[in-house]
Amino acid sequence: MHKLCAINDIAEPGSKGFDSTPKGPVFAVRFDGQVFVYANTCPHLGINLEWQPDQFLDQEDRMIQCCTHGALFRIEDGECLAGPCVGDALTAIPHHVKNGELFLAD
Ligand code: FES
Repeated sequence: MHKLCAINDIAEPGSKGFDSTPKGPVFAVRFDGQVFVYANTCPHLGINLEWQPDQFLDQEDRMIQCCTHGALFRIEDGECLAGPCVGDALTAIPHHVKNGELFLAD
């Protein structure tokens, strides 16, 4: 089990990136009482999404946004709803929360 962080290290709503994990670079989003984890790879060009460290959400904290060409992804399932990769999706990373800490699944 690879620990990412304590849940409270992520704002709600908010996001946090992790550059080196057994699954490669990933990021976590807290939103609506849930935690989502995705590979930090835009389906458009395969590059990182964030515009500044730990900044993966749009200005309203309603969608995940890729900084390079502005693609918008639904937080709940990673589907791209606007931008050059509409219909593609972020890769969800299995994870779980235990005792207030966030772990990648083995
Ligand atoms: S690289 Fe993400 S939208 Fe183009």
